[in-house]
Amino acid sequence: MMDRERFGIVGAGAMGSGIAQLAAMSGHDVVVVDLSSAALDAAASKIRENLNLLETKGKLTPIEVAATNGRLHFADTMEALPGCQWVIEAVAEKYDVKNELLGKLNHILPADCLVATNTSSLSVNALATSSGRPKQFLGMHFFNPPLRMPLVELIPGLNTDPAVTNRAVQLMELWGKQTVLAQDTPGFIVNRIARPYYTEALRILEEGIADCSTIDAAMTEIHGFKMGPFALMDFIGNDVNYAVTNSVWEGCYCEPRYRPSVTQRNLVMANRLGKKTGIGFYDYSKPMPKQKHSDELLLLKIANRILLMLINEAVDAWYFGIASRSDIDKAMTLGVSYPKGLLEWSLGFGISHCIEGMADLYDFYREERYRTSPGFPKWISENSQ
Ligand SMILES: NC(=O)c1ccc[n+]([C@@H]2O[C@H](COP(=O)([O-])OP(=O)(O)OC[C@H]3O[C@@H](n4cnc5c(N)ncnc54)[C@H](O)[C@@H]3O)[C@@H](O)[C@H]2O)c1
Repeated sequence: MMDRERFGIVGAGAMGSGIAQLAAMSGHDVVVVDLSSAALDAAASKIRENLNLLETKGKLTPIEVAATNGRLHFADTMEALPGCQWVIEAVAEKYDVKNELLGKLNHILPADCLVATNTSSLSVNALATSSGRPKQFLGMHFFNPPLRMPLVELIPGLNTDPAVTNRAVQLMELWGKQTVLAQDTPGFIVNRIARPYYTEALRILEEGIADCSTIDAAMTEIHGFKMGPFALMDFIGNDVNYAVTNSVWEGCYCEPRYRPSVTQRNLVMANRLGKKTGIGFYDYSKPMPKQKHSDELLLLKIANRILLMLINEAVDAWYFGIASRSDIDKAMTLGVSYPKGLLEWSLGFGISHCIEGMADLYDFYREERYRTSPGFPKWISENSQ
């Protein structure tokens, strides 16, 4: 029975603790393992707090809270894991840390135990090899916070048994999550396609076309995004956002479309990480300036330029088979709350309008960053029946 499977979650940080809570709430016995007893204590009290809050809100009964707490176990040694049928690792995003851990797990876990990684940017195939059980290994990319975010990207490696991927799909259904299937490519779906939201906004800022608040207003007011790019980078943390851009850029062999920004690097170097340090693109010690944006034409130009770059990225990902049409749109609406799926948006915007817009950008800048995706002709024929 799937809901009786025992889970091991290795890494009790932001993601591991959330995934552990989710698994326990879904009826699994869960062992949370971390090297740091402080991390284990923090995870245990955070989960207790979350469960109490759900009880206060009437979303869980006291009996359900007690049962969930009873299913959670915490350990500072991997010796607690051998009884598990599934292990999800959520330790630091570093190859050496994950590789060493996966190698050790392979010796401890039963031969039929399935192992998943919550990596956001490392190669699932590389980690699958380190796991010593590539057929029983896949990427399960949860979003933060795992409890609230409805999407999980599933990333099978080249050697993953399709039956294991199917089991992961069923498991996520049981946990109330929606899944999309992604190729093992840098950034998978969401972190790849969303790159221009940040990098193009930074480019517009660096060119002196507009300031942060104008660019943010363009995206929220014209296209209905929940947060503008600069407010969002400050919220995510410029260190985290910069690291993801770097990793996608490096992983794609220095593809100019993903090139990181020196402006953001400088903020990171100066410890202006955003909300968490009180200052990033905005200064959070002061009230946010309420600006009036009277230049509607400028807002429209900025908003359409960023949207075009996002659509170009989505068409490219579809063309190169990173995910299906429906999964690309599902991933961007559920993973990063975009107001519409980008592929669907290209139809409303007009595909020929997208191609012309990209050609104009390329004509002006003559940079590879602005090349139109080779996927557009196929995208036109796909939508012309
Ligand atoms: N934070 C996010 O927004 C987010 C979103 C999606 C995916 N991820 C991915 O999830 C993973 C974890 O991220 P996080 O933000 O939870 O990190 P975190 O720093 O909050 O937690 C990592 C935990 O792993 C523990 N750890 C490190 N090495 C260990 C080992 N060998 N054995 C046991 N425990 C060990 C640390 O003590 C720490 O408690 C990373 O791969 C990250 O890329 C993070």
